[in-house]
Amino acid sequence: MRKPMIAGNWKMNLLYSKVPEYLQTLNRELAANSRIRRDAVDVLLAVPAPFLGLAREYGEKHGILIAAQTIHEKPEGAFTGELSIPMLKDLGLRWTLIGHSERRQYYNETDASVAAKAKACLDQGINPIVCVGETRAEREGGQTEAVLKRQVEAVLRETGAASNFVIAYEPVWAIGTGLTATDEQAQEAHAFIRGILRQKLGGAAEALRILYGGSVKSSNIKGLMKQPDVDGALVGGASLDPVEFARIVDCQ
Ligand code: PGA
Repeated sequence: MRKPMIAGNWKMNLLYSKVPEYLQTLNRELAANSRIRRDAVDVLLAVPAPFLGLAREYGEKHGILIAAQTIHEKPEGAFTGELSIPMLKDLGLRWTLIGHSERRQYYNETDASVAAKAKACLDQGINPIVCVGETRAEREGGQTEAVLKRQVEAVLRETGAASNFVIAYEPVWAIGTGLTATDEQAQEAHAFIRGILRQKLGGAAEALRILYGGSVKSSNIKGLMKQPDVDGALVGGASLDPVEFARIVDCQ
Protein backbone atom coordinates (compact mmCIF):
# COMPACT_ATOMS: atom_id res chain seq x y z
CA MET A 1 0.00 0.00 0.00
CA ARG A 2 1.59 3.27 -1.12
CA LYS A 3 1.00 6.37 0.97
CA PRO A 4 -0.21 9.18 -1.30
CA MET A 5 1.87 12.33 -1.62
CA ILE A 6 0.58 15.74 -2.63
CA ALA A 7 3.52 17.97 -3.44
CA GLY A 8 3.45 21.66 -4.29
CA ASN A 9 6.09 23.34 -6.41
CA TRP A 10 6.22 27.09 -5.93
CA LYS A 11 8.86 27.49 -8.66
CA MET A 12 10.12 31.14 -8.62
CA ASN A 13 7.00 32.54 -6.97
CA LEU A 14 5.81 34.07 -3.70
CA LEU A 15 7.98 35.96 -1.23
CA TYR A 16 9.94 35.13 1.93
CA SER A 17 7.74 37.53 3.89
CA LYS A 18 4.63 35.61 2.80
CA VAL A 19 5.87 32.20 3.96
CA PRO A 20 4.47 32.30 7.54
CA GLU A 21 1.04 33.43 6.38
CA TYR A 22 0.91 30.82 3.62
CA LEU A 23 1.87 27.97 5.96
CA GLN A 24 -0.44 29.12 8.75
CA THR A 25 -3.32 29.20 6.30
CA LEU A 26 -2.41 25.80 4.88
CA ASN A 27 -2.11 24.29 8.37
CA ARG A 28 -5.43 25.79 9.38
CA GLU A 29 -7.19 24.55 6.25
CA LEU A 30 -5.74 21.05 6.63
CA ALA A 31 -6.61 20.92 10.32
CA ALA A 32 -10.15 22.16 9.69
CA ASN A 33 -10.66 19.37 7.27
CA SER A 34 -12.14 16.28 8.83
CA ARG A 35 -12.16 14.13 5.70
CA ILE A 36 -8.46 13.41 5.61
CA ARG A 37 -6.33 11.96 8.33
CA ARG A 38 -3.16 14.06 8.33
CA ASP A 39 -0.96 11.00 8.63
CA ALA A 40 -2.67 9.29 5.69
CA VAL A 41 -1.02 11.55 3.12
CA ASP A 42 2.40 13.17 2.76
CA VAL A 43 2.09 16.89 2.07
CA LEU A 44 5.24 18.50 0.69
CA LEU A 45 6.20 21.94 -0.60
CA ALA A 46 9.19 22.62 -2.84
CA VAL A 47 10.07 26.25 -2.16
CA PRO A 48 12.74 28.66 -3.46
CA ALA A 49 16.13 28.17 -1.77
CA PRO A 50 16.07 31.36 0.37
CA PHE A 51 12.76 30.28 1.94
CA LEU A 52 13.88 26.79 2.99
CA GLY A 53 14.80 27.51 6.62
CA LEU A 54 11.73 29.61 7.34
CA ALA A 55 9.41 27.19 5.55
CA ARG A 56 10.79 24.35 7.64
CA GLU A 57 10.16 26.30 10.83
CA TYR A 58 6.52 26.94 9.93
CA GLY A 59 5.82 23.76 7.98
CA GLU A 60 7.46 20.80 9.56
CA LYS A 61 6.03 21.28 13.03
CA HIS A 62 2.67 20.67 11.36
CA GLY A 63 3.95 17.70 9.41
CA ILE A 64 4.39 19.52 6.09
CA LEU A 65 7.56 18.35 4.39
CA ILE A 66 9.74 21.03 2.85
CA ALA A 67 11.87 20.39 -0.22
CA ALA A 68 14.39 22.17 -2.42
CA GLN A 69 13.56 22.56 -6.12
CA THR A 70 16.96 21.36 -7.31
CA ILE A 71 20.30 20.37 -5.83
CA HIS A 72 23.90 20.15 -7.02
CA GLU A 73 25.46 16.70 -7.10
CA LYS A 74 28.80 17.89 -5.65
CA PRO A 75 29.02 18.45 -1.89
CA GLU A 76 30.82 21.80 -2.18
CA GLY A 77 32.95 23.91 -4.48
CA ALA A 78 33.06 26.74 -6.99
CA PHE A 79 29.51 26.44 -8.35
CA THR A 80 28.08 29.93 -8.07
CA GLY A 81 24.38 30.03 -7.32
CA GLU A 82 24.02 26.34 -6.48
CA LEU A 83 22.70 24.58 -3.39
CA SER A 84 24.44 21.50 -1.98
CA ILE A 85 23.08 18.42 -0.27
CA PRO A 86 25.06 19.12 2.95
CA MET A 87 23.50 22.62 3.02
CA LEU A 88 20.02 21.10 2.73
CA LYS A 89 20.75 18.56 5.45
CA ASP A 90 22.21 21.24 7.69
CA LEU A 91 18.80 22.94 7.53
CA GLY A 92 17.24 19.69 8.72
CA LEU A 93 15.66 18.97 5.34
CA ARG A 94 15.45 15.64 3.57
CA TRP A 95 13.67 16.24 0.23
CA THR A 96 14.38 17.78 -3.15
CA LEU A 97 12.95 17.83 -6.66
CA ILE A 98 15.34 16.75 -9.39
CA GLY A 99 15.21 17.08 -13.16
CA HIS A 100 12.09 19.22 -13.40
CA SER A 101 11.36 19.87 -17.07
CA GLU A 102 12.06 23.59 -16.57
CA ARG A 103 15.54 22.68 -15.28
CA ARG A 104 16.04 20.39 -18.27
CA GLN A 105 14.74 23.01 -20.70
CA TYR A 106 16.28 26.25 -19.38
CA TYR A 107 19.35 25.06 -17.46
CA ASN A 108 20.60 22.28 -19.68
CA GLU A 109 20.04 19.48 -17.22
CA THR A 110 20.45 16.16 -18.97
CA ASP A 111 19.54 12.56 -18.22
CA ALA A 112 23.14 12.10 -17.06
CA SER A 113 23.17 15.08 -14.70
CA VAL A 114 19.75 14.17 -13.31
CA ALA A 115 21.00 10.63 -12.66
CA ALA A 116 24.14 11.98 -10.93
CA LYS A 117 21.97 14.19 -8.71
CA ALA A 118 19.67 11.28 -7.85
CA LYS A 119 22.64 9.13 -6.90
CA ALA A 120 24.20 11.87 -4.77
CA CYS A 121 20.88 12.34 -2.95
CA LEU A 122 20.39 8.66 -2.23
CA ASP A 123 24.02 8.23 -1.15
CA GLN A 124 23.60 11.08 1.34
CA GLY A 125 20.17 10.35 2.76
CA ILE A 126 18.11 12.85 0.78
CA ASN A 127 14.85 11.72 -0.84
CA PRO A 128 14.69 12.86 -4.46
CA ILE A 129 11.50 13.40 -6.42
CA VAL A 130 12.73 12.68 -9.93
CA CYS A 131 10.71 14.41 -12.67
CA VAL A 132 10.27 12.83 -16.09
CA GLY A 133 7.93 13.49 -18.98
CA GLU A 134 7.63 13.96 -22.72
CA THR A 135 7.17 17.16 -24.72
CA ARG A 136 4.17 17.73 -26.95
CA ALA A 137 6.25 17.00 -30.08
CA GLU A 138 7.47 13.76 -28.54
CA ARG A 139 3.91 12.68 -27.67
CA GLU A 140 2.62 13.60 -31.11
CA GLY A 141 5.54 11.76 -32.66
CA GLY A 142 4.66 8.57 -30.76
CA GLN A 143 7.80 8.88 -28.65
CA THR A 144 6.26 9.04 -25.17
CA GLU A 145 7.29 5.56 -24.04
CA ALA A 146 10.77 5.80 -25.55
CA VAL A 147 11.38 9.12 -23.76
CA LEU A 148 10.10 7.86 -20.40
CA LYS A 149 12.17 4.69 -20.73
CA ARG A 150 15.31 6.69 -21.54
CA GLN A 151 14.78 9.14 -18.66
CA VAL A 152 13.91 6.54 -16.03
CA GLU A 153 16.56 4.03 -17.06
CA ALA A 154 19.28 6.70 -16.98
CA VAL A 155 18.51 7.22 -13.29
CA LEU A 156 18.19 3.52 -12.49
CA ARG A 157 21.55 2.79 -14.09
CA GLU A 158 23.22 5.14 -11.57
CA THR A 159 21.18 4.35 -8.51
CA GLY A 160 20.77 0.58 -8.92
CA ALA A 161 19.26 -1.34 -6.02
CA ALA A 162 19.23 1.84 -3.88
CA SER A 163 16.55 3.36 -6.12
CA ASN A 164 14.32 4.49 -3.31
CA PHE A 165 12.93 7.64 -4.88
CA VAL A 166 9.64 9.22 -5.84
CA ILE A 167 8.99 9.72 -9.54
CA ALA A 168 6.90 12.58 -10.86
CA TYR A 169 5.47 12.01 -14.32
CA GLU A 170 4.93 15.47 -15.76
CA PRO A 171 4.06 15.64 -19.44
CA VAL A 172 5.73 18.89 -20.49
CA TRP A 173 2.73 19.85 -22.64
CA ALA A 174 0.51 19.80 -19.53
CA ILE A 175 2.70 21.99 -17.31
CA GLY A 176 1.29 25.46 -16.77
CA THR A 177 -0.86 25.16 -19.87
CA GLY A 178 -4.21 24.26 -18.33
CA LEU A 179 -4.08 21.04 -20.38
CA THR A 180 -4.13 18.01 -18.11
CA ALA A 181 -3.46 14.49 -19.25
CA THR A 182 -6.70 12.53 -19.11
CA ASP A 183 -7.00 10.07 -16.25
CA GLU A 184 -6.38 7.28 -18.78
CA GLN A 185 -3.31 8.95 -20.30
CA ALA A 186 -1.86 9.44 -16.82
CA GLN A 187 -2.56 5.84 -15.80
CA GLU A 188 -1.05 4.53 -19.02
CA ALA A 189 2.19 6.46 -18.51
CA HIS A 190 2.38 5.59 -14.81
CA ALA A 191 1.82 1.89 -15.49
CA PHE A 192 4.53 2.04 -18.15
CA ILE A 193 6.96 3.67 -15.71
CA ARG A 194 6.13 1.11 -13.02
CA GLY A 195 6.84 -1.62 -15.56
CA ILE A 196 10.34 -0.21 -16.12
CA LEU A 197 10.89 -0.01 -12.36
CA ARG A 198 9.67 -3.60 -11.97
CA GLN A 199 12.08 -4.87 -14.62
CA LYS A 200 15.04 -3.33 -12.77
CA LEU A 201 13.95 -3.54 -9.15
CA GLY A 202 11.50 -6.43 -8.99
CA GLY A 203 8.99 -6.32 -6.15
CA ALA A 204 10.51 -3.14 -4.70
CA ALA A 205 8.85 -1.24 -7.57
CA GLU A 206 5.47 -1.75 -5.95
CA ALA A 207 6.49 0.45 -3.03
CA LEU A 208 7.69 3.40 -5.13
CA ARG A 209 5.36 6.35 -5.54
CA ILE A 210 4.68 7.86 -8.94
CA LEU A 211 3.12 11.34 -8.82
CA TYR A 212 1.30 13.00 -11.69
CA GLY A 213 2.06 16.66 -12.51
CA GLY A 214 0.68 19.09 -15.07
CA SER A 215 -2.16 21.53 -14.41
CA VAL A 216 -3.48 19.62 -11.38
CA LYS A 217 -6.30 21.44 -9.56
CA SER A 218 -8.96 20.53 -7.02
CA SER A 219 -11.35 20.00 -9.94
CA ASN A 220 -9.30 17.25 -11.62
CA ILE A 221 -7.37 15.56 -8.80
CA LYS A 222 -10.06 13.06 -7.87
CA GLY A 223 -10.17 11.23 -11.19
CA LEU A 224 -6.38 11.13 -11.38
CA MET A 225 -6.08 9.69 -7.88
CA LYS A 226 -8.54 6.91 -8.70
CA GLN A 227 -6.02 5.47 -11.14
CA PRO A 228 -4.21 2.48 -9.64
CA ASP A 229 -0.69 3.68 -10.49
CA VAL A 230 -1.19 7.38 -9.64
CA ASP A 231 0.09 7.80 -6.09
CA GLY A 232 -0.17 11.54 -5.75
CA ALA A 233 0.44 14.82 -7.52
CA LEU A 234 3.05 17.48 -8.10
CA VAL A 235 1.17 20.75 -8.26
CA GLY A 236 2.63 23.98 -9.66
CA GLY A 237 0.33 26.96 -10.20
CA ALA A 238 -2.49 25.70 -7.98
CA SER A 239 -0.12 25.27 -5.03
CA LEU A 240 0.43 29.03 -4.81
CA ASP A 241 -2.94 29.45 -3.10
CA PRO A 242 -2.91 27.61 0.25
CA VAL A 243 -6.69 27.23 0.28
CA GLU A 244 -6.75 25.60 -3.15
CA PHE A 245 -3.71 23.47 -2.28
CA ALA A 246 -5.46 22.24 0.88
CA ARG A 247 -8.50 21.39 -1.24
CA ILE A 248 -6.30 19.29 -3.52
CA VAL A 249 -4.89 17.47 -0.49
CA ASP A 250 -8.44 16.90 0.73
CA CYS A 251 -9.72 15.67 -2.64
CA GLN A 252 -7.05 13.06 -3.18
P1 PGA B 1 1.49 23.24 -13.08
O1 PGA B 1 3.02 22.83 -12.83
O2 PGA B 1 0.67 22.53 -12.02
O3 PGA B 1 1.46 24.73 -12.94
O4 PGA B 1 1.14 22.76 -14.45
C1 PGA B 1 3.37 21.52 -12.44
C2 PGA B 1 4.86 21.44 -12.29
O5 PGA B 1 5.61 21.97 -13.12
O6 PGA B 1 5.37 20.83 -11.33
